[in-house]
Amino acid sequence: MEYLKFCFVFSCWLKFANSVSSTETPQAPAPIPKEKLLVLTVATEETDGFHRFMKSASYFNYTVKVLGMGEAWKGGDVGRSIGGGQKVRLLKEAMEALADQEDLVVLSVDSYDLIFAGGPEEILRKFQQANHKVLFAAEGLIWPDKRLADKYPSIRSGKRYLNSGGIIGYAPYINRVVSQWNLHDNDDDQLFYTKIYLDPLQRVSIPETLNMTLDHKCQIFQNLNGAVDEVLLKFGTGRVRVRNTVYDSLPVVVHGNGNTKMYLNYLANYVPNAWTYENGCSLCDDDIVDLSQLKVSEYPNVLVGVFIEQPTPFLPEFFQRLLTLDYPKDKLNLFIHNNEVYHEKHIQKFWEENRNVFGSFKVVGPEENLSQGEARNMGMDLCRKDATCGYYFSMDSDVMLTNRQTLKLLIEQNRKIIGPLVTRHSKLWSNFWGALSLDGYYARSEDYVDIVQRKRVGVWNIPYMAHVYLVKGSVLRNELKERNYFVLEKLDPDMAFCRNSREMGVFMYITNRHDFGRLISTANYNISHYNNDLWQIFENPVDWKEKYIHPNYTRIFTENHMEEPCPDVFWFPVFSEKACDEIVGEMEHYGSWSGGRHEDKRISGGYETVPTDDIHMKQIGFDKEWLHFIREFISPVTLKVFSGYYTKGYAVMNFVVKYTPERQAYLRPHHDSSTFTINIALNNKDRDFEGGGCRFHRYNCSISSPRKGWSFMHPGRLTHLHEGLPTTNGTRYIAVSFIDP
Ligand SMILES: *[C@@H]1O[C@H](CO)[C@@H](O)[C@H](O)[C@H]1NC(C)=O
Ligand SMILES: *[C@@H]1O[C@H](CO)[C@@H](O)[C@H](O)[C@H]1NC(C)=O
Ligand SMILES: *[C@@H]1O[C@H](CO)[C@@H](O)[C@H](O)[C@H]1NC(C)=O
Ligand SMILES: *[C@@H]1O[C@H](CO)[C@@H](O)[C@H](O)[C@H]1NC(C)=O
Ligand SMILES: *[C@@H]1O[C@H](CO)[C@@H](O)[C@H](O)[C@H]1NC(C)=O
Ligand SMILES: *[C@@H]1O[C@H](CO)[C@@H](O)[C@H](O)[C@H]1NC(C)=O
Ligand SMILES: *[C@@H]1O[C@H](CO)[C@@H](O)[C@H](O)[C@H]1NC(C)=O
Repeated sequence: MEYLKFCFVFSCWLKFANSVSSTETPQAPAPIPKEKLLVLTVATEETDGFHRFMKSASYFNYTVKVLGMGEAWKGGDVGRSIGGGQKVRLLKEAMEALADQEDLVVLSVDSYDLIFAGGPEEILRKFQQANHKVLFAAEGLIWPDKRLADKYPSIRSGKRYLNSGGIIGYAPYINRVVSQWNLHDNDDDQLFYTKIYLDPLQRVSIPETLNMTLDHKCQIFQNLNGAVDEVLLKFGTGRVRVRNTVYDSLPVVVHGNGNTKMYLNYLANYVPNAWTYENGCSLCDDDIVDLSQLKVSEYPNVLVGVFIEQPTPFLPEFFQRLLTLDYPKDKLNLFIHNNEVYHEKHIQKFWEENRNVFGSFKVVGPEENLSQGEARNMGMDLCRKDATCGYYFSMDSDVMLTNRQTLKLLIEQNRKIIGPLVTRHSKLWSNFWGALSLDGYYARSEDYVDIVQRKRVGVWNIPYMAHVYLVKGSVLRNELKERNYFVLEKLDPDMAFCRNSREMGVFMYITNRHDFGRLISTANYNISHYNNDLWQIFENPVDWKEKYIHPNYTRIFTENHMEEPCPDVFWFPVFSEKACDEIVGEMEHYGSWSGGRHEDKRISGGYETVPTDDIHMKQIGFDKEWLHFIREFISPVTLKVFSGYYTKGYAVMNFVVKYTPERQAYLRPHHDSSTFTINIALNNKDRDFEGGGCRFHRYNCSISSPRKGWSFMHPGRLTHLHEGLPTTNGTRYIAVSFIDP
């Protein structure tokens, strides 16, 4: 019996092949007018995926009818198991009214995970070329019943198995297929269609059969499951398509079935016209919220969740940036989770100075012993439970937002979840992933580097983000209304949150339309010094420079912003106020001043002819950092003023000197054992001390008003015999290096 049936199918197959070759006469049928195509889709909710589908449909002017909107979904969890019968039932009901429209072509497709890459004319043309009454999408994997595999007709090439995510056919024939449905909403739609298709009596072209086939070579339907490696983006002018490289086809309907939703999200960042080389991002300004239309008093309330989960350099600067965000502060409610005893002093200071600035100010400290996941749940929940909370803005302490407009820009972009791109300085490290590996961890997408380097600018649907993002309060109270989003299996809290969002079908976006800021490195942060950020010159050079280098330093090179008070004594700004204060603070904290004696165990030979009361950089473990500072910030000045001299930036004697009338007040005339010397004033004349200064004998030239943060640079030997003038009151500090000894 089985054998006979097979024979029957086989002979019909031959007959079909013959009939195809015999119709190869040039008489092409008249094209079906595009008005004759009706798209039917089932969607019970307006998910982000649904909106994306509708957007791509309206771009091509498809006529779409949505079935089941607002109805409860009873079709099971189709992502994980069988189900989807409800879709067939709804289609069956809709087809009853269309059954007698013989020239109507119906395209039934999924919508949550599907986009159009081409228009109705193209679909109809390809449908006509297929020369069947009903055409199903095909895929290379069989689902849900693998045992049916050998019942499928064999094919020479192409995808063999039916996928129910896309069906196109003449209305009466589609009706004849779906009218056979008499199962439950949670029965499997794909199995239903498969059984009809595999029934030779229904499939093949003897009169009264359904004349069905599959789109084996992805002319119309591209299912991505098992086929991710077959497809590429094809950039055209103002339009992007997906190309199937195996069949060299340009599919019109692209379906992220199975576990390829993230890949569809990636493709849909481009297809059909979302981003092109010519026009950049064409959808970025759709659905924008214009805050400038609102009175400041009408701005939405934002709960800002700040998470300090590990010792973080530059935390006071982080708080300053939070304070300077361009947003009404009374609309910002602050929730801070601090997991580090070390940072309590910084938070205390910020709280004392600003507690009345914000709408509210809540701190949960290390004594609460919350896990990171619990703390993040708590912050998010504060916004969720407060109906007036418009947005939840989560920020980790390692995010330096240099763009004051960040919060406004994110709100205006009007997405459920959106983060600003922040990257580690001059690294490819950022706060998002462009793709996921099969086990849910990092994978690099083809466009990752271009997005990080802002060679492609736009708003990108991505599978994972962390460190900083904005979530709509309304989304927390609807799609994401469950609590506990940050705790899932053994995942990191952010991975848990992103996985939950993905599973709820809530798209996450990263925008790189502006320069928002950077991520600082918290690695190798040693908090056993007194002013720990001073040591960050290697790990976080940009933040180090911003904090510790004088704001006018770069003007030395652009505007010759320096002076020459004595011959070959150059004077220029180098350290910020903070650098001076923290270096002095560090030395006083260390406290073991040498006392200005001739005997000195710290130097080779153990004897200093012109001793000062000082502490060496090496004594506080700052010598490597100091030499790096010399190479980065002093060498360029040397090259400018002593042109042709390339300093090695090498120095053994690097120290801070303390002058005070009670101990050592001055230094007698001497040469330095250096090619050139730098001498940086670390505090203010007339405020911190009186007297002081430096005198160069050969030129009978004194500089009696040193400026805090400014450095002298002068030759060390032969011409520049000099002395330290007496400090008559208070304490004067200078930092000195004998460079290229
Ligand atoms: C869709 O229709 C509009 C208005 O008729 C037209 O301007 C546009 O070009 C059409 N789009 C496509 C892709 O055909
Ligand atoms: C299917 O129907 C078309 C007309 O729509 C016909 O030309 C074709 O021969 C039929 N195919 C088969 C295999 O019967
Ligand atoms: C903090 O919590 C962890 C794990 O929840 C627990 O092992 C630890 O004992 C707690 N520490 C304190 C001080 O309560
Ligand atoms: C941190 O700094 C202290 C004080 O300088 C030093 O003793 C210690 O070795 C440093 N720790 C690390 C891990 O570098
Ligand atoms: C930088 O230079 C400008 C102009 O000379 C001056 O007004 C300003 O105070 C300087 N900045 C600092 C921090 O000294
Ligand atoms: C040095 O300069 C001072 C004033 O600037 C002047 O009074 C003095 O005579 C000069 N000494 C010599 C040796 O030129
Ligand atoms: C030293 O400075 C202090 C405070 O600035 C002042 O009160 C005192 O009178 C000064 N002493 C002398 C000798 O000028």
